[in-house]
Amino acid sequence: PFFWAVIPAAGIGSRMRADRPKQYLSLGGRTILEHTLDCFLGHPRLKGLAVSLAADDPYWPLLPCAGNGRILRAAGGSERADSVFNALQLLAGQGAEASDWVLVHDAARPNLVRADLDRLLAELADDPVGGLLAVPARDTLKRADADGRVRQTVDRSVIWQAYTPQMFRLGALRQALGDALQAGVAITDESSAMEWAGQAPRLIEGRADNLKITRPEDLEWLARRWADD
Ligand code: C5P
Repeated sequence: PFFWAVIPAAGIGSRMRADRPKQYLSLGGRTILEHTLDCFLGHPRLKGLAVSLAADDPYWPLLPCAGNGRILRAAGGSERADSVFNALQLLAGQGAEASDWVLVHDAARPNLVRADLDRLLAELADDPVGGLLAVPARDTLKRADADGRVRQTVDRSVIWQAYTPQMFRLGALRQALGDALQAGVAITDESSAMEWAGQAPRLIEGRADNLKITRPEDLEWLARRWADD
């Protein structure tokens, strides 16, 4: 089956402490967002792609891909979930059907490889719910109190880190996100909206280096790695 992609890129990335949102920082001469889009735009099964952008975003129009007719531009919202919801609405208006798959992927994850994307598509092709790329927790995990003292060691064997892409049916995701937003529930990824709607998304183990650029050292690490390749 074909799929649609949604790339929320309307965040400000304050934890990067940079002069611009992190998706517009440079990695090997191109922006992080361009690298992220590349992984999807070259895919033969991609039907269409929507990128959610802040209304006054001055950086997007400067990118060569801003003129790419295959990229739909959705309105960014105040939270990531709003940005994703707006993009889903846009896709639905562009002919995407409720039963179509949508893959939502953070703009700030430029290191997704095709093999991971294809594994997600293959593993979930017949799944009734959908799921997400994820990585088993690697470190020992601690629950802390307000003073920064360890109160408990968490059983890490059942803990995963939720990555993206996250893959769900357009109709189900739109409903779950819309309802969750309306109810004022805190939603930090698509899976949490589906969980809130009573579903159990499947975890598909992916590469740990599909990391979300969040802090300055993440970008330094990735830039060094790409330079070595
Ligand atoms: O802030 P965080 O790293 O969790 O953001 C994840 C992704 O969601 C980023 O690609 C960011 O641009 C996007 N986002 C968005 N709209 C917001 C907040 C974040 O599209 N209001």
